[in-house]
Amino acid sequence: MKLKLALASTIFLTIFSGNVLAQDIDAGRLLFGVCSACHGPNGEGLQALNGPRIAGQQAWYTIRQLQNFKSGARGSDSRDIYGQQMAPMAQILTTDQAIKDVAAYIESLGS
Ligand code: HEC
Repeated sequence: MKLKLALASTIFLTIFSGNVLAQDIDAGRLLFGVCSACHGPNGEGLQALNGPRIAGQQAWYTIRQLQNFKSGARGSDSRDIYGQQMAPMAQILTTDQAIKDVAAYIESLGS
């Protein structure tokens, strides 16, 4: 009985500990390597490649924009030159977790 309880609580903790959903800034830092090519090493922006400053942007906003680029809600119009540069980059972030991680890292760049 005790063993079963211990097992059940271990499984419960593994699933609900939040590890699966929490953002991971270190993972985000690795992902940001690609982004830095256009947004600058610290997200400060890079005019030569049209990358706007994104450092310190709040994560909820970044997450929303990355989802919009991925779904095509943003950056799919042929007249939207800058959006079209960014849209394929959002596809690199294949999971919601990756989007959360990179957004958390970008937010941390502001401070
Ligand atoms: C090829 C250059 C390039 C790369 C690489 C790139 N971006 Fe962008 N990004 C842009 C451009 C250009 C824009 C401006 C788009 C617009 O004006 O709509 C942009 C816009 C954005 C925006 C919207 C900013 C706002 O204020 O709404 C976010 C967020 C963003 N990029 C995140 C990223 C992330 C995260 C990565 C890495 C996975 C990345 N970008 C990689 C060029 C790039």
